[in-house]
Amino acid sequence: MSLSADAARSADVDVLVVGLVTSQDGPRPAPGSDDVDDALGGRLAAAAKALGARGKAGEITRMPTLGAVKAPLIITAGLGAAPEGDRFDAETLRRAAGAALRAAAGHDRVAVALPARDTGEASAVALGALLGNYAFLKYRTSDTTASAPAESVTIITPAAGASSAAVERAETLAESVALVRDLVNTPPGDLPPSELAKIASEVAETAGLGVEVLDEEALVAGGYGAIIGVGQGSVNPPRLVRVAYDHPGATKTLALIGKGITFDTGGLSLKPAASMDWMKSDMGGAAAVLGALRAIAALRPAVNVVGYLAIAENMPGGAAQRPSDVVTSYGGTTIEVMNTDAEGRLVMADAIGRAAEDSPDLIIDVATLTGGQLVALGTRTSGVMGNDDAVRDSVTDAATRTGESMWSMPLPPELRRYFDSSVADITNHASERWGSMLSAGVFLSEFIPDGVPWVHIDIAGPAFNQGEAHDYTPKGGTGVAVRTLVQVAEDLAEGTNPATRSA
Ligand code: BES
Ligand code: MN
Ligand code: ZN
Repeated sequence: MSLSADAARSADVDVLVVGLVTSQDGPRPAPGSDDVDDALGGRLAAAAKALGARGKAGEITRMPTLGAVKAPLIITAGLGAAPEGDRFDAETLRRAAGAALRAAAGHDRVAVALPARDTGEASAVALGALLGNYAFLKYRTSDTTASAPAESVTIITPAAGASSAAVERAETLAESVALVRDLVNTPPGDLPPSELAKIASEVAETAGLGVEVLDEEALVAGGYGAIIGVGQGSVNPPRLVRVAYDHPGATKTLALIGKGITFDTGGLSLKPAASMDWMKSDMGGAAAVLGALRAIAALRPAVNVVGYLAIAENMPGGAAQRPSDVVTSYGGTTIEVMNTDAEGRLVMADAIGRAAEDSPDLIIDVATLTGGQLVALGTRTSGVMGNDDAVRDSVTDAATRTGESMWSMPLPPELRRYFDSSVADITNHASERWGSMLSAGVFLSEFIPDGVPWVHIDIAGPAFNQGEAHDYTPKGGTGVAVRTLVQVAEDLAEGTNPATRSA
């Protein structure tokens, strides 16, 4: 990606992207498109209108330029109503840029002349463009050129000189999100726990992070009974990966824990076929933790961050754990496994127990944990829970600032009694069916060390886009939570997160 302060009309590219806003009498050119509009004799809006454009957010049109500007094709991206003083919010710019880059798939060189009047706007346009410029083509042998991402993306901005750090940051974030999307999109047969652990080690080493991998023998020897229980029905044994980022000036430690079920059949509490077909996304939390650590290693905030990837495959093989089996978690808590499909909370319990040994100032776990998340908040909004309302809300707020949709939810203490077991300390399956996103959070809270602020993010729906691509979000793996986790790490380094103020 590069920046250019040159005139948009003379950009030597295959596609030129400009913005439109809505107005009473149809679309109007957005800031950044004046030069192109001039080159078209002031007819950009009229031409877009003739193509059916209204300037609405998410709207795309394609316009041949017939030599009026150097690029042979203009793509218009709607920004919606122009805000007061034309101050577009960052997410509006990211989405428009992402939608435009998706529409430009199959073209090599793209220049973007969306509103980018200062470094803030330029960085939003850059990140949106890079997030939209993604395709997962590893398994396609035909029609690959038509869907290939652009090879070069140029952001046209008068702030080109001042914005190079912003572009680097956008590249770091977009590459880390793309890593997560690739991992989620990879067929589960090609990504058993050992392979996910191997890729995590490679990514960590390349990024200069510390890495430790516990294999099945180490997990048995170490007392990780819950991860072992979940993994024992598969021929592909489980792993626990620890990835560490240290900063010499850090005074605080953030622990990130991700659910890494490489495929969730439900185990012996088998899922119906229709619920299983997107369960390759059940490692989306672990992938997000890896992606966040990769980005953090490049951005170097002054905070220590330790990440745990709790990885297993949940299969109903002959050695599978049975409903009513009891496992002992890493911290010593006994869990009666009443439903083998509630496996995420089991692997997370072990990883949380281990993370406690790092004396974290804040624990954040990310998991595709419950169908209840989808019932409560839909496909695009993650649920945020925790043991401290202010800390929980600070994570939700960090998400909003980065453009990820998350919403704070409660952990009603009265749900705990539904986990009472007649033989063990706790069961993994609430006897009450309502509020299952919240009860899963209540279960996890039992494993959090006393006095440590903790936030739980349920990304069951948002991790995987089963619908059509939209804005900068492709079909399939989305890479959700990476940007939020990075933002929280930066907030901790700045001392603006309440978890650090109370400590
Ligand atoms: N991985 C699923 C949750 C899930 C559902 C993720 C839909 C993405 C989309 C999780 O392991 C699971 O099976 N949860 C069960 C728990 C239940 C048995 C208590 C659920 O939510 O139905
Ligand atoms: Mn499950
Ligand atoms: Zn699962």
